[in-house]
Amino acid sequence: MVKLRTVYRCTDCGAATPKWAGRCGSCGAWNSLVEDVEGDDEIISIATGMALVPAGIPKPIDSLDATISEPQTTGVEELDRVLGGGLVPGSVTLLGGEPGIGKSTLLLQLLAAWSGQTLYVTAEESAQQVHMRAERLNAIKPDLWLVAEMSLNNIIKSIDQVEPQLVIIDSIQAIADPLLNSAPGSVSQVRGCAHRLVQEAKARNLPIILVGHVTKDGGLAGPRVLEHVVDTVLSFEGERHHALRLLRAVKHRFGSTNELGLFEMTEMGLRSVPDASKLFLADRRAGVPGSIVVPALEGHRPLLVEVQALTNLSPSHVSPRRSAQGVDSGRLAMLLAVLERRANVNLSQHEVFASVVGGVKLGEPGADLGLCLALVSASTDRPLPENLVACGEVGLAGELRQASNTARRLAEAARLGFTRAIIPASSAVDINIPGIKLEPAQTVAQALALAGLSIN
Ligand code: TYD
Ligand code: MG
Repeated sequence: MVKLRTVYRCTDCGAATPKWAGRCGSCGAWNSLVEDVEGDDEIISIATGMALVPAGIPKPIDSLDATISEPQTTGVEELDRVLGGGLVPGSVTLLGGEPGIGKSTLLLQLLAAWSGQTLYVTAEESAQQVHMRAERLNAIKPDLWLVAEMSLNNIIKSIDQVEPQLVIIDSIQAIADPLLNSAPGSVSQVRGCAHRLVQEAKARNLPIILVGHVTKDGGLAGPRVLEHVVDTVLSFEGERHHALRLLRAVKHRFGSTNELGLFEMTEMGLRSVPDASKLFLADRRAGVPGSIVVPALEGHRPLLVEVQALTNLSPSHVSPRRSAQGVDSGRLAMLLAVLERRANVNLSQHEVFASVVGGVKLGEPGADLGLCLALVSASTDRPLPENLVACGEVGLAGELRQASNTARRLAEAARLGFTRAIIPASSAVDINIPGIKLEPAQTVAQALALAGLSIN
């Protein structure tokens, strides 16, 4: 009888130790060690019935055919955009996202749009449930095959039987290899199943998409190694109470990770949003103090979003409330400090609320200036000009620093009819956007004056 060694493996970094400990000796994470098995490739393959990976044969690089890995369009425009054209045959993609965000919906729509035989493996929902959803999404078609299955070997048998050109596994945490003697979702199961599916994908030149759950803090559940074995990791995000969904590539072996895909969740499933700025600004009310439009950049994609601020004299003078939605709370605190010390705007006795409308998260410093203007506009109760946008990073000295790709941001603002832009003086050189008047400023105080909010 072949025996596997029992080890304890860190779910964060993947390091293995023979003894359990409360803290991983390798990466220092607490409570991350779980039981796992380890052995030589050969022993694992005998014990688990898995085929051994054939030994690689070295070849001169120019003898390889690159056309085999040309991406094939998925039929879902925004997905193609993020993938850089489509799915590469033989590639394995992991789609991560919170429960209920729309992963199964997106993939079912992908199968409906895909031309050719496909297989949807549902390990969480029943075949009836998926059928009902497919009806709603208009995804009923003869070459879409469906199997409710949790066992890895049966899944592979289904692939043999259907011979699909695309396989979806919903989800990797719900399937299990019975030979691997641990529960679905455990580190050894997730890793073992993912490894096996990667082998199958490569051997058959078949694209496979795995659905992955994320934990409370946003990381993918299961071992980190999962992200290493797949070719592409996509993250599907959004606020549960907003219709907007953002799709990003976190890792992509076949192209850039800079593209952003945008969808709107509707009654009829997900709809691609080619013109996001228009969507974000649809409900904007002009002439309200504390509101400004910021030309942000998500990857390569310019997005116009409304940033809002509200300030109120705090009933209690001890640490008044600060609330940040869609912007980093640390960044908000820093900008409040800069406004106080460099621009004579003192909000230390005020409750401050800042939010980005539409469920977008602005992670880049280019939104700093817009947020500062919104804060001062709110606290002075003076609305900002309706046709104004502002972008730029604010430094601790109150200086304005240029944000990346200012020209692309301003072109998007011009397209939507904005005519004035306050930008850092350093980025005004060489930029000429028809229709937009540039108003360069060197400091946040100068920017406030240009916006009609000067503080005496
Ligand atoms: P789902 O794809 O099941 O999410 P996940 O697989 O990521 O857990 O989507 C769940 C939510 O999407 C559900 O709460 C309802 C909503 N939804 C719509 O609003 N419209 C639709 O057409 C569909 C199919 C789902
Ligand atoms: Mg689902």
